[in-house]
Amino acid sequence: MYSTKKITDSIFWVGGNDRRLALFENLFPIPRGVSYNSYLIMDEKTTLMDTVDSSITRQFLENIFHTLGGRTLDYLVVNHMEPDHCANIEELMFHFPEMKLVGNAKTFSLIRQFYHMDLEGRTITVKENDTLSLGSHTLRFCFAPMVHWPEVMMAYEESEKILFSADAFGSFGALNGNLYNDEVFFDRDWLPDARRYYSNIVGKYGAQVQTALKKLAGTEIRLICPLHGPVWRSELGYLLDKYDRWSRYEPEENAVALFYGSMYGNTENAVSILASGLADGGIKNIAIHDVSSTHVSTLIAEVFRCSHLVLAAPTYNNGIYPAMLNLLHDMKALNVQNRTVSLIENGSWAPSCAKQMRALLDEMKGINILEPIVTIKSAPNEDSLSTLELLKESILSSLANKG
Ligand code: FEO
Repeated sequence: MYSTKKITDSIFWVGGNDRRLALFENLFPIPRGVSYNSYLIMDEKTTLMDTVDSSITRQFLENIFHTLGGRTLDYLVVNHMEPDHCANIEELMFHFPEMKLVGNAKTFSLIRQFYHMDLEGRTITVKENDTLSLGSHTLRFCFAPMVHWPEVMMAYEESEKILFSADAFGSFGALNGNLYNDEVFFDRDWLPDARRYYSNIVGKYGAQVQTALKKLAGTEIRLICPLHGPVWRSELGYLLDKYDRWSRYEPEENAVALFYGSMYGNTENAVSILASGLADGGIKNIAIHDVSSTHVSTLIAEVFRCSHLVLAAPTYNNGIYPAMLNLLHDMKALNVQNRTVSLIENGSWAPSCAKQMRALLDEMKGINILEPIVTIKSAPNEDSLSTLELLKESILSSLANKG
């Protein structure tokens, strides 16, 4: 049975939710599920904006057939060629033999790589700023390469001022009946997943996101319709500000997150002591994460949120404790920049983890490493506690300067 949402008199949400998928991209845990948004514009030319993942094909088709009410589908706009949004292209081509696919040159190159369909006579290739008239609606195409794949484009509907933004401005999380940002407690219930989605999926491409934001800067936008998560119809400035900060790799908050790996609790002990001291120094909302038991995508989201990071780990096989190494590799891969970092190492006979962590951090831009580095030999003692005290003062002073 169909389950659609009316967005305007002639535009409908026809997507669906997957609450059974454990790992998005077979990589990222999504305990709150995920939505695959698709939008149908009912005009002289009926036009679908992207399709959905294969997991919800049946729901999707029911939504489309219900909304079309017996009409055919004229256009399918492919803003993004990742399979979570195009798994149903072939199915639609079969159901609607007159339907034309609208994309750019890269879109069609990717379609041919992924699928073996006969596209002869069924494509409309658009270039940057091209328009497509649907009747009373007109789509203008704005290319956004690498947000998050090279073929990505956004489509701006001029008459109703709606931006179909592809992956941009999306979030993990299934839509629980409420479609709009102002129908949910976004800050409490959605922001952590929106941040985790951005930082892990698009985080590497901050420069390209900045380019896209600049292109959109002069455009009046009433609604943002992303491919995942809520549709934005209010407080667009809030969302655009988050994207601006995240894509400039500026911290969202002047805040401290402590990340530790600990084999027997001694490195964790040092982190707890440091956090307690920071709290005594007036710091609020301190976050502590065990890198061994917290998925790295959640750790990355925290890295994007916080200005001050503490990395604490044992030396392991003369190297960095593997779970911490994994986090550092992801930070580098996702282009993390502009953070103040403190280092705590542990080692019972040859501690060298801090030096190696510093070497990796030196490969990232704008990383300021606070002194002193704390070395623990097996377990905190009076010596390491006094260094930890100095580090606490250093963090407090740095936070005060940036506050
Ligand atoms: Fe939701 Fe880049 O696909």
